[in-house]
Amino acid sequence: MSQSSPSLADLAALLERRRSCRAFLERPVPRADLERILTAARQAPSGANLQPGRFHVLAGAPLAGFCDAMAAAAEGPAEPPEYGYFPQPLPPELKARQRAAGYALYAALGIDRRDLAGRRAQFAANYRFFGAPVAIVVTIRRDMGAGCYMDLGMALMALMLAAEAAGYGTCGIGALAQYGRAAHRALALPEEELVVCGIALGHPDPEAPVNRVRTERAPLGGYASFRGWPGEVPE
Ligand SMILES: Cc1cc2nc3c(=O)[nH]c(=O)nc-3n(C[C@H](O)[C@H](O)[C@H](O)COP(=O)(O)O)c2cc1C
Repeated sequence: MSQSSPSLADLAALLERRRSCRAFLERPVPRADLERILTAARQAPSGANLQPGRFHVLAGAPLAGFCDAMAAAAEGPAEPPEYGYFPQPLPPELKARQRAAGYALYAALGIDRRDLAGRRAQFAANYRFFGAPVAIVVTIRRDMGAGCYMDLGMALMALMLAAEAAGYGTCGIGALAQYGRAAHRALALPEEELVVCGIALGHPDPEAPVNRVRTERAPLGGYASFRGWPGEVPE
């Protein structure tokens, strides 16, 4: 990508290249790289420039301790989640997308649909950030409104793209919010901070089949509508 003036084609290529990474090399990530990535992500816009959210970046012993605490919590009884992620029940067309993404993931991992133990193990791997050398725990003040989650989402996307451009892989981990209380205890987070999600970050393992999962996207016509131009929206 050119340094001075990236084109839409450059950005589209970066967006296309970014896919969730769920297997990482053990290579450590220099703190300077993380600071550069977060500095870039900080440019995301936000309503009234509130810049809501905090990024708690963990590596080394603090990460190992956090993973142990989260893995132990996830083996125990379910906790009330920090917030509702999905509508219950999911509308059928969204359920179909969720299923397709799940099947693609399990197929890449060689886990049969009926292999409950295999699926459970993959779910548990969320709480070890898929072995990534860096975990980012993303929080937001509990009293923030829906718009602030939109702002935080933009910062998350900016972070993922910045990481991708810097040669790192990432995966969002919404599963973290299912054990938000445990995350609070492990990191001694202030009560007013709500755990939104985690992000695993590191050098992607190029040999891992799970990193070859490709998810589909809805056709443009199901995503956008155009008024004031003739013609149908292309697939
Ligand atoms: C906020 C957020 C939370 C996510 N949570 C999880 C998760 O808990 N576990 C997981 O394996 N993938 C998780 N993902 C990855 C999504 O499943 C993935 O982004 C989606 O299927 C599209 O695939 P792609 O990222 O490869 O394009 C999450 C992604 C985002 C953006």
